[in-house]
Amino acid sequence: MAVETTLVLVKPDGVRRGLCGEIVARFERRGYELRAARLLRVSKPLAREHYAEHRGKPFFADLVDFITSGAVLALAVRGEDAIAGVRGLMGATNPADSAPGTIRGDLATLLSENVVHGSDSRKSARRELQLFFPDGLV
Ligand code: RTP
Ligand code: MG
Repeated sequence: MAVETTLVLVKPDGVRRGLCGEIVARFERRGYELRAARLLRVSKPLAREHYAEHRGKPFFADLVDFITSGAVLALAVRGEDAIAGVRGLMGATNPADSAPGTIRGDLATLLSENVVHGSDSRKSARRELQLFFPDGLV
């Protein structure tokens, strides 16, 4: 157990659908703390860097197009075991498999438009927080 900070993105579908408040509320109600927040339009280079692990996969181009298709809300979320805990609140990657009660299980139906991103490890969290909050966290 350890206090961790993780990167959450409310993806363009979530922002377009007006779900930011609902999603932030779920993290806050669980007991996590917001350390930073930023509404931004992701550039293609930032998208390719953020999703570098998926470079070369058949869905990579669509993923980059989607994450750059509108504003995203980037959040630095902090708390006890926040990396796995946030992923748990988000639910399985494919909303078809996401349990009811999770963000994706309640708010999404499509793998390509699954509303949220969360870092998947300490290494990813460090790397992704630096990409979206290059000036550091308060
Ligand atoms: P994310 O990075 O967005 O938080 O999602 P994740 O860790 O749960 O899933 P990941 O494997 O990192 O995949 C990133 C995003 O790519 C899309 N995807 N499409 N067509 C496909 O087979 C496929 N696989 C993944 C999803 O939108 C996923 O969130
Ligand atoms: Mg991922």
